[in-house]
Amino acid sequence: MQSDGGNDLVTRRGRSRNWYFVGRSRRLQETVSRMLVHSKALRHNEAFPCSTMHRENVHFVQIDRRKTIYIMSYAFQQCIHPDCQASYDIGQILTACETCGSLLDVQYDWEQIAVPTSLREFEARWSKRLNPLDFSGVWRFRELLGFPANEQIVTIGEGQTILQQNDRLASLVGMNPGKLFLQYEGLNPSGSFKDNGMTAASTHARMVGAKMTACASTGNTSASLAIYAGVSGLFQCVVFVGSGKIAYGKLSQALDYGAKTLQIDGDFDDALARVRELCAEYPIYLCNSVNPFRLEGQKTIMFRVLEGLGWEAPDWIVVPGGNLGNSSAFGKAFMELKQLGLIDRIPRLAIINAAGASTLDELVNNNELQWNDGRNNADVIRDYYASMDSENRRASTLASAIEINRPVNLVKALRALNFCDGVVRSVTDQEIVDARALIAANGFGCEPASGATIAGLRQMRTEGVIAASDRVACVLTGHQLKDPDLTVAYHTGDPEKQAEKLHPAGVHKTPHANSPIAVRNDTAAIVQALGLS
Ligand SMILES: Cc1ncc(COP(=O)(O)O)c(C=O)c1O
Ligand SMILES: [Zn+2]
Repeated sequence: MQSDGGNDLVTRRGRSRNWYFVGRSRRLQETVSRMLVHSKALRHNEAFPCSTMHRENVHFVQIDRRKTIYIMSYAFQQCIHPDCQASYDIGQILTACETCGSLLDVQYDWEQIAVPTSLREFEARWSKRLNPLDFSGVWRFRELLGFPANEQIVTIGEGQTILQQNDRLASLVGMNPGKLFLQYEGLNPSGSFKDNGMTAASTHARMVGAKMTACASTGNTSASLAIYAGVSGLFQCVVFVGSGKIAYGKLSQALDYGAKTLQIDGDFDDALARVRELCAEYPIYLCNSVNPFRLEGQKTIMFRVLEGLGWEAPDWIVVPGGNLGNSSAFGKAFMELKQLGLIDRIPRLAIINAAGASTLDELVNNNELQWNDGRNNADVIRDYYASMDSENRRASTLASAIEINRPVNLVKALRALNFCDGVVRSVTDQEIVDARALIAANGFGCEPASGATIAGLRQMRTEGVIAASDRVACVLTGHQLKDPDLTVAYHTGDPEKQAEKLHPAGVHKTPHANSPIAVRNDTAAIVQALGLS
């Protein structure tokens, strides 16, 4: 590191060439601003005025693909492995540590960031919601994910979701009144929690000048990516889905929002492998949850849960587990809030797998895999995956959103489980579809994966792991209309539909079914069907 003497201009050529960090003095800001304005290589005229540079936490200006001038950022990327901890600038597009291959976090120099001294201070933002950043349920917490300059943020009004108490459902799963809360993320613009992450990933894609974004998806990621690319008009986008592995509601969204949609002959894991290859080879920006910026957005789901409880932590957070992006992001949110002294109690985390896609449950509960200060037993994971391959065991569940073989955020989820004294459970498809129907009947239409939360809660109530008096927040991750086929198959009682959709997954009972009644187009017949005659 060199300094200009006043410790104002710091150039870190060794670690990352052509990146310049600029300190606080007006003289230097003016110099850099002039450099930017006169630079022939400047492609985007994004040289912020000095006053803006000074006001915001983070400043980032792209000059061209190789030469980037990076102004006064307090965020960086860091390898999560404790023996490596390699750090990278936020302008680099990475999905793994270049040194050791571990996952990356976005980290912050908190000393330099004007974080509120109390979470309550965020409440004032709502009264300023004419400002799109304050309207967003993600960016109104922007000091806690301060990697972009405000001008770079790509928002479509995501995260307008609030925690809601549901006593009827509470009584059905053995919880005391006032103790069960639902965080209904189906109300996001694309109908799932993914928008919390995609606003952050799209923002970073814009910061690095991406022209094309991509993802592999079980459906919701592709819907979310497609809406951000389509509405912002900033990127082309390509989504990879497993052929026959995506619910129609989700596929229709990707098509409607204009994404180039590739149906791969395989499942999610195959689609992800292909898209990762492609993004490594071509200038395409990857928006799956291996992208650490995406998970920064998903932290805000927990901020809203806390807000819904008057900034008190619940006893439990219950979340379905697929690729484990949410679980990882939630853990990171609580780690940071604790570090910043903004909470004093950590909720426990319950991650619920589908029994047909139970890699995390198997590894943690049957193979003793633990975070172990970041030095977890990689052999256990490798052996488990090898046994899946040799026995040709593939994930299979009606909750297609969590039909994942090898969760990409596994190690971060172990960290979250460790920090939040977490537990992992699996629930059968029968339990999932019954719980989903029950949640819907109590006012919260959600997709099957979200049903795993209430099914898991029920299981943990039976075990006595969760007490009736505990305060529990279940994250309902996606909207009911994502997967209407399954809902209709459940309710309709049509033996053909049930044989096709439900029986192969071991679902033979439909205790909450509400079958439609076929009736002639005739008033007398209708009166009779209604039992009024
Ligand atoms: C509705 C829904 N629930 C849960 C999940 C799983 O989330 P995660 O991959 O963060 O574990 C997904 C992911 O696609 C989803 O779409
Ligand atoms: Zn590393």
